[in-house]
Amino acid sequence: MSEVSDPIFAKIAAQYDRVNRVLSFGQERKWRAFGIRQLSQGSVLDLGCGTGDTDFEGRTVIGIDPVIEMLALSPVVAKAGAVGEALPFRDASFDAVFSAYVFRNLTSVDATLEEMHRVLKPGAAAVVIGLSRPINPVLRFIHRVGTAIVLPLVGLVFARAPKEYWYLHKSLDTLPPPERLFVGRRLDYETHWRNGVFGFVYGVRLRKPE
Ligand SMILES: C[S@@+](CC[C@H](N)C(=O)[O-])C[C@H]1O[C@@H](n2cnc3c(N)ncnc32)[C@H](O)[C@@H]1O
Repeated sequence: MSEVSDPIFAKIAAQYDRVNRVLSFGQERKWRAFGIRQLSQGSVLDLGCGTGDTDFEGRTVIGIDPVIEMLALSPVVAKAGAVGEALPFRDASFDAVFSAYVFRNLTSVDATLEEMHRVLKPGAAAVVIGLSRPINPVLRFIHRVGTAIVLPLVGLVFARAPKEYWYLHKSLDTLPPPERLFVGRRLDYETHWRNGVFGFVYGVRLRKPE
């Protein structure tokens, strides 16, 4: 077990699901469900499971997350404190890996993708859902101004955590867009899609070669 208390996620854990609904106008569950439908049946690793607010539609789920306060709220029975960069599982042990809204928080995307590759069975696929900026420069500018105002404001009103939601605004600029981030990896980049107002929600499907 490698649990920690992250000051940001510890502070917002209790209100996390509610704030997500507000910020996405109730859409984020739909985006996750779309990602889940791209996965095969069987065992699935929920990497960065947080509060466990995902419906895996009958699959056998194991959730990992490093933050105790988030993990404690998850109703999933099989869960462990761990980071994506060092997964406590044997090689080729999962039929699927799912990770929603986690990649901006990782210490190392490279190490996490390597670990996902290691724990997936040959031919199995992972789905990563995340938030990023729109590609169009004008929309990207509007989006940046919008998140600078809306995120801390909603964070203040619904979670009394404006600073933590300001961090979430800043973190949207930490990674390259998914169209660049995931290409040329050991996990084949198969498909991607964008959703949400301005296309700021993305999903990618990555497959481990046979
Ligand atoms: C925005 S929340 C998303 C939670 C959940 N996946 C969801 O869809 O609601 C991000 C989660 O990533 C976790 N996290 C942060 N660093 C991580 C790491 N290195 N490896 C795995 N999870 C991490 C946080 O503790 C937090 O629960």
